[in-house]
Amino acid sequence: MAPRRRDPSSGPDPAWTARTLLAWYDRHARVLPWRYRPGESPDPYRVWLSEIMLQQTTVAAVRAYFLRFTELWPAVGDLAAAPIEDVMREWAGLGYYSRARNLHAAAQQVARDHGGRFPADEDALRDLPGVGRYTASAIAAIAFGRPTLPVDGNIERVAARLFAVEEPLPAAKPRLVALAKSLTPSRRAGDLAQALMDLGATICTPKSPACALCPLNEGCLAYAKGIQDTLPRRAPKSARPERFGAAFLAFSVDGQVLMRRRPPKGLLGGMLEFPSSPWTAAAPHDPLAHAPMKGEWKRLPTRVEHVFTHFKLTLDVYAARVGRADPAFGLWTPRTEADAAGLPSVMRKILGAADGQGDRAGDGGRRPRR
Ligand code: ADE
Repeated sequence: MAPRRRDPSSGPDPAWTARTLLAWYDRHARVLPWRYRPGESPDPYRVWLSEIMLQQTTVAAVRAYFLRFTELWPAVGDLAAAPIEDVMREWAGLGYYSRARNLHAAAQQVARDHGGRFPADEDALRDLPGVGRYTASAIAAIAFGRPTLPVDGNIERVAARLFAVEEPLPAAKPRLVALAKSLTPSRRAGDLAQALMDLGATICTPKSPACALCPLNEGCLAYAKGIQDTLPRRAPKSARPERFGAAFLAFSVDGQVLMRRRPPKGLLGGMLEFPSSPWTAAAPHDPLAHAPMKGEWKRLPTRVEHVFTHFKLTLDVYAARVGRADPAFGLWTPRTEADAAGLPSVMRKILGAADGQGDRAGDGGRRPRR
């Protein structure tokens, strides 16, 4: 039997850690719709789809979307052949919409350039739109059993504790990645990755880790020192910038609401939106100058707030009843369709402001950003 710790100051022995964690995973793995039992052959399409959906998004939020996508499009060729509008509609609410666009483009690339079979190699996987270093490593390990370890914030936290790394993030990141990767076994690397993910989600949690239940507690240096709650350390971060704007809901007499399509690239690329002023560091001086058409604009009592990754947005919402739905002003959408359409969360909030719902109008399942 390998020792638990090579030397009490250098952290747990990698072989002991991997073996112990895999034995724990065999008994305690979370049951998730994209998971495979030992002995089953993973379908790379399902692994890839789940990993793209799980980028920046919680397991709880992804579950239903994953089931729906695999029901509608059971194989990569089905997704490649689907109209992009259908994919965007089904993605609505999951956030970070460029992922859906990349998902579709990657499916087409796999169908066209790889005969419908995902490449197994990390570098080749990274050629697919939307597949970065982490996701390529996750797919290579989980779908193809390649000996690599995807390291995200959860796994960094586990590594920081196992090896009692007190240097703060982000400077400590390369060290944490190297320490985590040192745990990669030659067999079952995908299971080890998922075991670390499960450990981070259920036991080695950011606050109040359940060390008494942890299969690795005997080898954990932070636990031995009693500093696990304080790790990983973080350098103080600068506040998220704020942006402000005015959004406009024009309701026509025949029950339609005015929308427009955002440019294909960038934030919420290609999604439907309500006309608005630019989103800037200060609220617009003369908000009604940005109204899409003349009308009796009234400011609604509910303000909309939405937190994007790189800024917090606060919008005043103006509404007006207008005459006929003149196409010169944009895309008129029946109100019932707009309610059901795949609108990004911030747009649902704007529409909700007309019903006095404001921030309750949906926020998806975005992972709280650290
Ligand atoms: N987060 C990213 N990939 C995951 C997976 N395969 N299982 C659980 N959580 C994850």
